[in-house]
Amino acid sequence: MLFGTFTAFFMPDAVEKSRGRGVIAHYREYLSVTDATPIVSLGEGATPLVEAPRLSNRVGCRVFLKCEGLNPTGSFKDRGMTVAVSKAIERGATALICASTGNTSASAAAYAARAGIRCAVVLPAGQIASGKLIQAIAHGAHIVAIDGNFDEALGVVRELGHDGHFTIVNSINPDRVAGQKTAAFEIVDQLGDAPDVQILPLGNAGNLTAYWAGYREYEKIGKSHRLPQMIGIQAAGAAPIFFQRVIKNPETVASAIRIGNPASWEFAQRAIDESRGAVQIASDEEILAAQRWLARNEGVFVEPASAAPIAGLIKLAAEGAAEFFSENSVIVCTVTGHGLKDPEIVARDFRRSAPVSADAKAVRAAIMN
Ligand code: F0G
Repeated sequence: MLFGTFTAFFMPDAVEKSRGRGVIAHYREYLSVTDATPIVSLGEGATPLVEAPRLSNRVGCRVFLKCEGLNPTGSFKDRGMTVAVSKAIERGATALICASTGNTSASAAAYAARAGIRCAVVLPAGQIASGKLIQAIAHGAHIVAIDGNFDEALGVVRELGHDGHFTIVNSINPDRVAGQKTAAFEIVDQLGDAPDVQILPLGNAGNLTAYWAGYREYEKIGKSHRLPQMIGIQAAGAAPIFFQRVIKNPETVASAIRIGNPASWEFAQRAIDESRGAVQIASDEEILAAQRWLARNEGVFVEPASAAPIAGLIKLAAEGAAEFFSENSVIVCTVTGHGLKDPEIVARDFRRSAPVSADAKAVRAAIMN
C-alpha cells in the first residue's frame, strides 16, 4: 500500500501519461471541458497501436492495429462517453438515454453508474451480442428491447430526447464525437505522424467523422504533416453509404454495424471525399474469415464488426488498389471492439467432445487426435 502511494507520487510524468489517465486528462486542451466540468472517467484511451507483421506481409504494406477493445468497457465508445457524460453532468443531467447495437449501451451504462445517474438503453430485440447485453445489465441500465431495428430505436430515442428529461448519448451528441477524435490524436502521437491510410468499420458513421476531425485538427496545429485517406468498411448486407441508399432491413453477422440509415452519413461522406478515400464492403463470410485469421495469426481477438476493416483491407490489396497504397504505405486499421463481446459467433464453430480421463496419457492422445 505504502509502496503504491510512494511510486505514484514519484512516477515521472511520461510514465504516468503512458499508463493513461483518461482522454480528458490527456487531451484536455482539445476538448470543451473547463474547471466547472466534473470529470467522469474510467481511465479510457491510451490503447495500444500494435504492428501486424503477418497482415503486413499478406497485403504488402505496413499495417498497424489500433486496439480499441482495450478500453474500459471493451470498445472505442468510452472515449466519447467520458466527454458526453462529463458535459451532461455539468449541465445538470439526471438521466442518459441511447439507442444501440450494443457497445454504446454498455459504455453509457458504465459511465452513468460511475456518475451516479440513471441510464435507459433502447435496443433492437434479440439483436445484441451477449457480452454487450450482460454489461448493460451488470451496470444497472434500464433496458428496453423494441420490436424494430437500430434505426427505429434511434428514432424513438431522438423523440424522447426532446422533452429535456434525458440526455442523448448517441454519436449525434457532439461531445461524443469530440471525445472519439482523441483516437486520431493518439495514433499521430504513437506513429510520429498521421498514417497514409486509416481504415474503420462504418456503422452509424460517427467514428469515421470523429477520426477525420481529429486528424484535421492535429494537422492544422502542426502536430502532423499529412492527412490520411479515410476508408470506411460496411457489411455487404448493411451498406447504405456504399450503395448510396437507405437499407430498410439491414442484415449482417457483424451486429454492431447492422445499420441501414446512418445518423452521420453526410459528415462521413464528406470526410471520405475530402480525404480521397473510399467505402468498401465485406461479406459476412469475409468478415468472419478476417476475424479468425487475425486471432490466429496476430493474436488479436476482435468482434466481427471490428474485423470488417481487416476484411476490407485484404480485399483492397487483392484488387491491387494502387490509389490507396504502395509498399511503403503506413496503414492503420482500427479494431473497435473486443472479441469477447460476441462469444457465440466463435463458440458456434467449436466442436465439443466428451471429457477424457484425468491422466496424461489420455490427454496426450486427445491432443494428438
Ligand atoms: N465497431 C463497433 C464495435 C461498434 O460498436 C460500432 C458502432 C462501430 C464499429 C461503428 O461505429 O457507428 O461510429 O460508425 N456501434 C454503435 C452502438 C452503433 O450502438 O454500439 P460508427
